[in-house]
Amino acid sequence: MVNENGTTLKKDRFDIQGSKTTMKAVVTNGNGGYEQLAYRDVPVPESAPGEVLLQVLAAGVNNTEINTRLGWYSSAVTTGTKAVTTAEKEKAKAQADGGWNEATPFPFIQGTDCCGRVVAVGPGGDESTLGLRVLVRPCIRSAGFESMENIWMASDFDGAFAQFVKIDAREVFPVDCDWSDAELGSIPCAYGTAETMVHRAKVSKGEHVLVAGASGGVGSAVVQLAKRREAIVTAIAGKEKMAQVRSIGADRVVARGDDIVAALGEKAVDVVIDNVAGPAFGGMLKVLKRGGRYASSGAIAGPLVSLDMRDFYLKDLTLIGCTAWDEPVFPNLISYIENGEIRPLVAKTFPLEQIVEAQREFTKKKHVGKFVLIPPPLNESQLSIISS
Ligand SMILES: NC(=O)c1ccc[n+]([C@@H]2O[C@H](COP(=O)([O-])OP(=O)(O)OC[C@H]3O[C@@H](n4cnc5c(N)ncnc54)[C@H](OP(=O)(O)O)[C@@H]3O)[C@@H](O)[C@H]2O)c1
Repeated sequence: MVNENGTTLKKDRFDIQGSKTTMKAVVTNGNGGYEQLAYRDVPVPESAPGEVLLQVLAAGVNNTEINTRLGWYSSAVTTGTKAVTTAEKEKAKAQADGGWNEATPFPFIQGTDCCGRVVAVGPGGDESTLGLRVLVRPCIRSAGFESMENIWMASDFDGAFAQFVKIDAREVFPVDCDWSDAELGSIPCAYGTAETMVHRAKVSKGEHVLVAGASGGVGSAVVQLAKRREAIVTAIAGKEKMAQVRSIGADRVVARGDDIVAALGEKAVDVVIDNVAGPAFGGMLKVLKRGGRYASSGAIAGPLVSLDMRDFYLKDLTLIGCTAWDEPVFPNLISYIENGEIRPLVAKTFPLEQIVEAQREFTKKKHVGKFVLIPPPLNESQLSIISS
């Protein structure tokens, strides 16, 4: 396509001309602010062999969607998500490394969490899954579980901020429970990440675990998953959220901003699970016992931290980076849901169309738990995809 100035324009891959059925979706057009989010009509994806098509019933809101739009994963960015500057965003764009996995394939559809219903299977697929309510495992170990290589739905390919999404059938897990769609849609990213850290850090019965950011999606999941393993949990949360964090099972809650070393003493805990990082990081190592484990999969308060190497090596600490999910993590989570061993914490739901309002409120961090987006109901022509 060429415009009136003779410039060749890139074909819009979401162009609906000639498509049989369309759907509503939020397309993220590039790095930047909320103006990059477009709620629009796009073609319904078609599942290829090995894939299934899901009707999206609910999709949780996560920091990763905001981080990816901002280009926060770029080495050009040195601050927490809230403080990213325009200059940093521009540098991230130029370096094309603002996605968690280098460059992001803009324009694309974000949405890492998906509770959906199987409405079509690709050619030769297993039709017995049709109609099942499922959760999608968004972290795909693309070279098998022996390798740490991984790609993510909604970071590397289209995700669930839409009425339909297609996905590799191996990443779809039926779930049989009485939770609402929104409750299920709050689970995958936060709880999968939390269980990965708890699993890799080998949290066990009677161990003392310190959880930072415990009012958040990941932190509140860690509290529950560590308690499930019968650990003793100390949580850190904003003053106004402390009571709610206690109500999900934390044995003790310390206010964010309080001196954690003064509160707990040195060498007090076996495991730290910390997705906050930033200026508080040094104290996290001080409170670990000899042989303690520190696990992280995020740094919402800032990615650059000050590490006293003596805390690390003189105490034989283990630092555990977590992003790729291990094989047992997601099937285990499904069983915890079905057995009633964890519970969801949905703070608020929004119609998909109100994604900007949802993300604005989400970044204020006044809530405990998760925000969830609900796509609009299907129209006649979309319903015919399901019945045909
Ligand atoms: N690697 C992965 O695969 C992966 C997956 C999921 C999440 N993450 C990352 O993990 C981090 C936490 O995720 P989440 O979903 O739990 O986030 P969230 O729901 O937004 O919760 C984060 C909580 O951290 C606390 N916090 C402390 N210092 C903060 C600061 N400077 N700015 C903002 N919040 C601060 C806040 O609670 P209080 O007000 O109670 O202190 C906040 O509610 C994010 O950075 C996210 O990108 C990574």
